[in-house]
Amino acid sequence: MTQFLDSVVVPVLYLLSAVLFILGIKGLTRVRTAQRGNALAALAMLIAIVTTLLDLGLVDFRWIIAGLIIGGLIGGIAALRVEMTAMPEMVALFNGFGGGASALVASSIIWLEVVEPGHVATPASIMGGDSALTAFLSIFIGAVTLSGSLIAFLKLKGMMTGSPILIPGRHVVNGLLLAGTAAAGLYLAFGAGVPETVGMVCLVVAGLSLVVGVLMVIPIGGADMPVVISFLNSLSGLAASMTGFVLGNNLLIISGALVGASGLILTQIMCVAMNRTLGNVLFSGFGQEGADAGSREYANVRSYSPEEAAMVLEGAESVIIVPGYGLAVAQAQHTARELADLLEKRGTKVSYAIHPVAGRMPGHMNVLLAEADVPYEKLVEMDTINPEFKTTDAVLIVGANDVVNPAAEKDPASPIAGMPVLEVWNAQTVMVIKRSLSPGFAGIKNELFEYDNTMMIFGDAKKVLQGLVSEVKELTAAA
Ligand code: TAP
Repeated sequence: MTQFLDSVVVPVLYLLSAVLFILGIKGLTRVRTAQRGNALAALAMLIAIVTTLLDLGLVDFRWIIAGLIIGGLIGGIAALRVEMTAMPEMVALFNGFGGGASALVASSIIWLEVVEPGHVATPASIMGGDSALTAFLSIFIGAVTLSGSLIAFLKLKGMMTGSPILIPGRHVVNGLLLAGTAAAGLYLAFGAGVPETVGMVCLVVAGLSLVVGVLMVIPIGGADMPVVISFLNSLSGLAASMTGFVLGNNLLIISGALVGASGLILTQIMCVAMNRTLGNVLFSGFGQEGADAGSREYANVRSYSPEEAAMVLEGAESVIIVPGYGLAVAQAQHTARELADLLEKRGTKVSYAIHPVAGRMPGHMNVLLAEADVPYEKLVEMDTINPEFKTTDAVLIVGANDVVNPAAEKDPASPIAGMPVLEVWNAQTVMVIKRSLSPGFAGIKNELFEYDNTMMIFGDAKKVLQGLVSEVKELTAAA
């Protein structure tokens, strides 16, 4: 019976779980199928946990059940209470805990197999060279993920400065630290033959790795954190995969690799959409205060009231709404939808232009607008909508800035030169709702605000949109 369980039931259930993980991730690539994808991945995780417990056989379940209840409660409450705009922070914390868990499991295997039995032999000779090496890598990557994610969390929460913290000679310091961690890790796996030394070196590797994680993330500006979090997510998957090798658990190897690969692909997508390399995000200290302070002066900016803007909307046959980070800050998605509904009732063609990195997290605008029940088919991707601006009467930009900055196409010296942007300036009239002339995430001037066809409507996005809604209603009633 036990043999049947080990050789047939467990591998088949693990395979089923792996397939469900893959289908889950595939589902997450489309808004329409995302909920089902999430449910499939959760089911895969349940099957994985139950199968692992079956595989373990008779163990003391008290700790496991206590852990499941406490962890489940914390996760459930956190997920229910989190604001949509605080999602990156939560993902950062969960990534960090994932990395920390992998590092702890790998350390505990070294402890159980080498230190506790008191063997006077290297971990490699007891566990096998590959397991000893992957145990070191799991501790290293897991600890880097833990401390790096905690720093990302603190930066996003505003509990530490969001500006890059650049210590002098940081690249040399980081290089030395990495070399030191690698040397300690190799000594741990192949050199330390006495149990006490193995234990001590294990702690040194974990400690150095935690410092590497902190130093890796503090020089990165707060607004780049979503990219860093996606990268750390990938690392947490890699750490889990390494732990899978240490434990000889195929499902952990597969699921860790899936997280590692998908996190890396997402990181790459974000970098491409910002026209930056991962190296530039991680090492350039992007987002320093005052980097572009001299060029923020504006001339020829025309400010309009919601009443004047409503008259333009009234005369428009086609309107494209461009949501950005400010829409999320103001939580103005429901009011944006209300305005769009009103305009559509008047016969206006309305669509939404979605830039891949508008907002502060992947799919930020899609999630917000889906929350306001905006039909998916009205959300048009950048490449599809860009040619349409030329034939559009009015563009209504709601709290977006960098993603509509013409400098990306027109100024080769701009820090965002080459970043694909929404070509809103080609429309007949461009209306921009934001509170001031402050820059967006990239910290640079936006000459769109000075264009002759641009109308600035200053104010909080939700309040301005509410003003527009009542003006359009009045105009409709008067017609
Ligand atoms: P941003 O360029 O950051 O501009 C947002 C604008 O919203 C600001 O200029 C701000 O101006 C305005 N705003 C803030 N609160 C507002 C409120 N309550 N009401 C009205 N306006 C408000 O946003 P974007 O155009 O969406 O571009 C996103 C940027 O983030 C890009 O540079 C992108 O590369 C970067 N980024 C994105 C991601 C992902 S994955 N989405 C990840 C990392 C970085 P005021 O202060 O004047 O109101």
